[in-house]
Amino acid sequence: MSATAHVQGDGHAPDHSKRDFLKLVAASGAAIGVGSLAWPLIDSMNPSGDVLALSSVEFDLAPVPLGQAVTVVWRGKPVFVRHRTPDEIKTAEAVKLSELGDPQLDSDRVKAGHEQWLVVVGICTHLGCVPLGNKSTDPRGDFGGWFCPCHGSQYDVSGRMRHGPAPANLAVPPYAFMSDTRIKIG
Ligand code: FES
Repeated sequence: MSATAHVQGDGHAPDHSKRDFLKLVAASGAAIGVGSLAWPLIDSMNPSGDVLALSSVEFDLAPVPLGQAVTVVWRGKPVFVRHRTPDEIKTAEAVKLSELGDPQLDSDRVKAGHEQWLVVVGICTHLGCVPLGNKSTDPRGDFGGWFCPCHGSQYDVSGRMRHGPAPANLAVPPYAFMSDTRIKIG
């Protein structure tokens, strides 16, 4: 089963948040919360496992602004698709493995020739919150990627954990480029 994602308006963000995140939501229409919302709460509203197991989602990268990210729902999970700037790519590539708690090269987390696009599962590897940082005005921590307000984990522009209790990098889901401006996750 494959679905085409579409841009959705702000929807209902948590009441403490006025961030107008751009969100892409898969055809199921399930909305994604942002901020410190714990993922398992949302996950309980998603389709059954046999439906999810077949799911893939395609979407157009063109609406994603440079320096920002959008959230796509894939198999009931938020996936961040970030359009990285040239400076962010350079920064990510310059990090030495010895600086990382979960050592992984940036080049192993993106597709060759499409380094401006980072695709990661947007679930903090500590306890499952959805980190902040998709919008350039959001808190992104000291490493320019994402900041998890739950317990202070920080991720860099490659989605690698750099600070705090998170034990691992944000996961990279299976995905492929269908063209220069379109990807398929799953
Ligand atoms: S869930 Fe992200 S730091 Fe605890």
